[in-house]
Amino acid sequence: METKKRLLTGMQSTGDLHIGNYFGALKPFVDTYKAYDSIIMVADLHALTSIRDASIMRQNILNVVRDYVAVGVDPKQAILFKQSDVPAHTELAWIFECLVSVPFLMQAHAYKDKVAKGIDASAGLFNYPMLMASDILLYDAEVVPVGEDQRQHIEYAREAGGKFNRAFGDTFVEPQEMIIKGVGIVAGTDGQKMSKSYKNTIPLFGTKDEVARAVMSIVTDSSGERPQNVYAIHQLFKNKAELEIVYEEHKGKYKNLKDALIEDIENVIAPMREKRESITDADIKDILKDGAEKANERAVRKMEVVRKKIGVTL
Ligand code: ADP
Ligand code: TRP
Repeated sequence: METKKRLLTGMQSTGDLHIGNYFGALKPFVDTYKAYDSIIMVADLHALTSIRDASIMRQNILNVVRDYVAVGVDPKQAILFKQSDVPAHTELAWIFECLVSVPFLMQAHAYKDKVAKGIDASAGLFNYPMLMASDILLYDAEVVPVGEDQRQHIEYAREAGGKFNRAFGDTFVEPQEMIIKGVGIVAGTDGQKMSKSYKNTIPLFGTKDEVARAVMSIVTDSSGERPQNVYAIHQLFKNKAELEIVYEEHKGKYKNLKDALIEDIENVIAPMREKRESITDADIKDILKDGAEKANERAVRKMEVVRKKIGVTL
C-alpha cells in the first residue's frame, strides 16, 4: 500500500470569511488535504501574540473550526486539534530557540515589520517562527500548505530542523511549503482585490439578503454591455459557456445580471451556511478533544526521541 505523505497546516481566525478567502485559500485546501495524512491545527498559542481577551480567543477557536468544517474539512479524514492541547509544541519550540541565534530570528518578516512600524514586539512574536517550526517538525510533516506570506516561516522550520539534526543526529524530516494557488486574486464589489480591509467583500456565510446587498453594491460602469465587475465574480460560480448564455440574454440589463449572480452564489454557499449553522459548540469541543488525543500520541512519541537525543532522558 502506498503510504500518504504527511501534511500539516496551521490556521488562525481571520474574522468573517468572504468569497475571496474561499476561492483563494479554503477551497483549494479542501480539494487537497484528503490526498495526504493530514493534520490541521488551530494556532491558538500563535494567536496569543495579538489577542488579550479570553472571550475573543474562545470565539476565534470555535469559529475557525466551524468555518473549516463548514467548507468541507471532514474531521474523520484529518486530525483536527488545537495547539494549546499539545504541550510538546512549546517544549520543542524552546529547544529550537536554544539552537538558533538572535540575529537569525531578527530577520523574520513578522518581527521586522512590527519593529519598522515602531511597535514593541513581544518575546512571543520574536520566537513565533520557532513555535511554528515545532508545529511542523513534531509531526514529521513533509508538506505544509500556506499562503505566500508564510513562505519564510517554512524556511525557518527547515533551518531549525537542520540545526537540530546537525547537532544531535538525524531526527527531523525537511518540510516543504505548498503555496496554495487558488483561482488567483478574487475581485471585490469595487473591482479591487476583495479584502475585509477594503470593505468590498461578499460574505461567505452571509444570508441571502446580505449577499444580495453586497451584489447590488457592485460598481458597474455604463460603457459596455457587460458589467465587468459582475462578470469577474460570476465566473467563479459558472463556466464561460454557461455565462455566455446568461450575459447574451440579459445584455445591458445590469439588474437582471446581478439577480442571476445572487442566485448562483446562493446555490453554492447555502449548503455551507446551513452546515455551519448546524455545528454546535459541543460538536467542536468533541472534534478537538478527539484530535488532541491523536496529536498528543504522535507528539509524545516524537518527544521521547528528541529528549533522548539532547540527553535529558537518563
Ligand atoms: P483579507 O484580505 O480579507 O484580510 P486575509 O488576508 O485574512 O484576507 O486572507 C486569508 C486568506 O485568503 C489568504 O491566504 C489569501 O490567500 C486568501 N485571500 C484573501 N483575499 C483574497 C482574494 N481577494 N483573492 C484570493 N484569495 C484571497
Ligand atoms: N503562522 C501561520 C499563519 O499565520 C499559522 C501557523 C501556525 C501555521 N503554525 C503553523 C501554518 C504551522 C502552517 C504550519 O497563517
